[in-house]
Amino acid sequence: MNHEEAGRFWNANAAAWTKLAREGYDLYRNHFNTPAFFEMLPDVTGLKGLDIGCGEGYNTRLLAKRGAHMAAIDIAEIFIDYAQAAETEAPLGIDYRVASAVELPFPAETFDFATGFMSFMDVPETGQVLQEAFRILKPGGFLQFSITHPCFDTPHRKNLRDENRITYAIEVGDYFRSQNGEIEEWIFGAAPPEAKQGLPKFKVPRFTRTLSAWLNLLLETGFQLERVNEPRPSDETVQEYPYLQDAQVVSYFLHLRVRKPLT
Ligand SMILES: C[S@@+](CC[C@H](N)C(=O)[O-])C[C@H]1O[C@@H](n2cnc3c(N)ncnc32)[C@H](O)[C@@H]1O
Repeated sequence: MNHEEAGRFWNANAAAWTKLAREGYDLYRNHFNTPAFFEMLPDVTGLKGLDIGCGEGYNTRLLAKRGAHMAAIDIAEIFIDYAQAAETEAPLGIDYRVASAVELPFPAETFDFATGFMSFMDVPETGQVLQEAFRILKPGGFLQFSITHPCFDTPHRKNLRDENRITYAIEVGDYFRSQNGEIEEWIFGAAPPEAKQGLPKFKVPRFTRTLSAWLNLLLETGFQLERVNEPRPSDETVQEYPYLQDAQVVSYFLHLRVRKPLT
């Protein structure tokens, strides 16, 4: 499967995804993944940034509210329509465009920084995505992105729960098999039946890579590795949102910051 075919699945997911995410049911994103990403992010005030795979624009808006001058792209035009509608309603100066991460519609050395929130693992041409991010960054600029953790989001994965439904381990397997577009069907588990009523499940094409594949691709692209984080929800967060308890057992997400060298 290539990025265009994968993009069609995302376009079909976009309406239901946006509805549920805007109703607050993307609990992992809202309550520890995005907050941890922003804790690791350098000061972006006044910087020119590109958000790659922006979806309906939730995280792009947060970047703009931190004072960055933002552009954002997504391959799914329905996501961009939702993002643009939010921009029209409450303008933050964000320039949204429909485009693929493998072919960014910007000249070389345009941006001070780039971000990718949970989008890079959804594009089969991983190396091209990193090369494009490298190309559009100014020398000395940084790329920070989050992905599902390659070691724990494996082709085989199962939550092991005790008699109280508390997850005590995650069974992983088939780590070395690189998936190439196998469809996983799911919908935000925290959403109550009435919120999900009539909505199709998301169909998400999967492209798994090993941890070493990700790191070696970054280094081969020319990036310097600067910071790594494996976010974990705090006990207080889990008390408030018990749904997130399983994310304390292993790291569901991996955050990486890399930099384009000055010379
Ligand atoms: C898991 S969603 C994350 C959306 C958003 N960044 C967020 O955090 O809410 C993955 C996003 O990647 C986008 N995507 C998938 N393939 C893409 C590609 N080739 N180019 C740009 N965006 C892509 C999808 O349309 C979707 O919006």
